[in-house]
Amino acid sequence: MAIDIRTAVQAAAGVAETLTLMKQALKGVVSEAILEDKAELVFAINRLKREKRAVILGHNYMEPALYQTIPDHVGDSLELSRIAAKTDADIIVFCGVRFMAETAKILNPKKLVLLPSDRAGCSLAAAITGDDVRALKRRFKGAPVVSYVNTYADVKAETDICCTSSNAAEVVQYLLDRGHKRVIFLPDEYLGTNVAHDLGLPIFFPDEADPGHERALIGWRGRCEVHEQFTVADVQQARSVNPNVVVLAHPECSRPVVEAADFSGSTKQMIRYVKENNAPEFLLLTECSMGDNIVAENPDKNLLRLCSVRCPHMKQITLEDTYAALVHLRHRIELDADTIERSRASLERMIAIGGGAPVAASSAAPAHSS
Ligand code: 13P
Ligand code: SF4
Repeated sequence: MAIDIRTAVQAAAGVAETLTLMKQALKGVVSEAILEDKAELVFAINRLKREKRAVILGHNYMEPALYQTIPDHVGDSLELSRIAAKTDADIIVFCGVRFMAETAKILNPKKLVLLPSDRAGCSLAAAITGDDVRALKRRFKGAPVVSYVNTYADVKAETDICCTSSNAAEVVQYLLDRGHKRVIFLPDEYLGTNVAHDLGLPIFFPDEADPGHERALIGWRGRCEVHEQFTVADVQQARSVNPNVVVLAHPECSRPVVEAADFSGSTKQMIRYVKENNAPEFLLLTECSMGDNIVAENPDKNLLRLCSVRCPHMKQITLEDTYAALVHLRHRIELDADTIERSRASLERMIAIGGGAPVAASSAAPAHSS
């Protein structure tokens, strides 16, 4: 049975109770030796968090001993942006990567926003700059810009509406419904291709000649260094061992991989899919820690994950650094007022549009509903 470990751990009266609860919830997922080593730290973080009136937001990719113990809220990028927009805490500690913490700062300019490591970047966010977006707007005059939330503030400042993997198709559709025929979609080549496929639109890239389509997505060749590594051969290999395996791919995977999968969606949508469906085995094509987190909460599920493919940025965020962030109030996200002002509109428009349905699903047979 699933245990709401976070609530229980955060209410624990001492280190011994913290350790007992951690062992209960992370049995078989994290070794007892590691839990014994971490329990004191977990208790200290939870106490400090209350003393400093801080809220901890944890992305679904956080390692299980952190994910199951210290965040007040966990979720995908869209969910955490919505929570960040509403929090009344004095300090936001973002256990995720820099673009996520920047998003929280943009939505809460007066609050102190901390990222436990200053090395938690993202290959997608690093793939494009504000100057690149300005050049695209000059070249494709009048086309609105949709930017994946996996971008830095200077790019969001040049953006009309942000999106996440959870609502990308809905955001583009929103613009099409308002008469726009061409939409600039940045910076993920693969997410852009998957969204274009879902909406029945062609996509082309600025390094190609303009094919002249009246309706089209104009993409950008950024890639997630994690999801670009998954291949159709990975899916075929899993199916050859177990033909009943159900394959889930994040939409940052290439189009052929998404097509070979049974389901594609944001991290939250993948978690929900596994929880709500029965299959003898699930293969997750995303950061491996998320598979551990699902197993911790659903010990009855059999999850295959390819742990040779990891996000080096998400892995920077540790319990030790989160404790240090709270003690020393570091690493502070600082953005200038003009960038905050201009980027906030793009995030607020996204939050107002809402959405969150799966981005893409293949025509392969779905898993059996439970
Ligand atoms: P989600 O919005 O699906 O959580 O994805 C964020 C991310 O960085 C995936 O690599
Ligand atoms: Fe960026 Fe990919 Fe890591 Fe997500 S998994 S933070 S998109 S590098």
